Amino acid sequence: MIRLVLGSFLIISHIYDVEPAPTENYPYSEALASKYMLYWKYNATHITFETHVQALGYTGFGISANGSMFPGDVIIGYVSHHQGYLTDFHTTAHAPPTVDSSQDWTLISFSEDNGSTVLKFSRALHPNDSDDYPIHAGVTHVIWSYSTTDPKSPTDMIYHDATRGSKDIILLTKDPVAVGK
Ligand code: HEM
Repeated sequence: MIRLVLGSFLIISHIYDVEPAPTENYPYSEALASKYMLYWKYNATHITFETHVQALGYTGFGISANGSMFPGDVIIGYVSHHQGYLTDFHTTAHAPPTVDSSQDWTLISFSEDNGSTVLKFSRALHPNDSDDYPIHAGVTHVIWSYSTTDPKSPTDMIYHDATRGSKDIILLTKDPVAVGK
């Protein structure tokens, strides 16, 4: 019995170093990496994500067409001097992402605590912007990255080194039907 409990603990701790406490109870969560936890929820029109990253630089998060860095629809957010920043970008190469002409994400809350950065942000499931990918039921290629230092400005991004990756996730179990449709 003790071996079973210890075994479960080791498996969980391997997925994410320390399970963080999200700011609310989310129906969905996924460890993207040992230091990167993702929570989310959605309704008929919008999706809300909360990222917990054990680093004090920027958090990158996005959706990729094929699981690679590009082409992709990404955000980069960070906290500096008690101020939160979140910018909507798209990727076209293994190079700094391009700022979208339409900024479609809302930063709901942010914090930096105990060496971790927490960002909560939301967006329409189907934004009216060709640089943003609509989110549908089924597998989504999620990409992530983070850094240990903040960028100089919200649009001046720095390379992620080895702290980047991708994961195929079912974000929406089924396509929500918008009220009135
Ligand atoms: C200044 C910003 C960025 C630069 C200069 C950059 C550059 C690069 C380069 C050169 C590679 C290939 C070498 C490697 O594997 O490290 C790469 C890979 C990768 N990047 Fe970035 N990147 C940036 C931002 C981002 C962001 C914001 C994300 C995600 C939100 C991201 C996700 C990835 C992923 C998942 C890979 C591995 C898959 C692949 O090779 O396409 N990158 N990046």
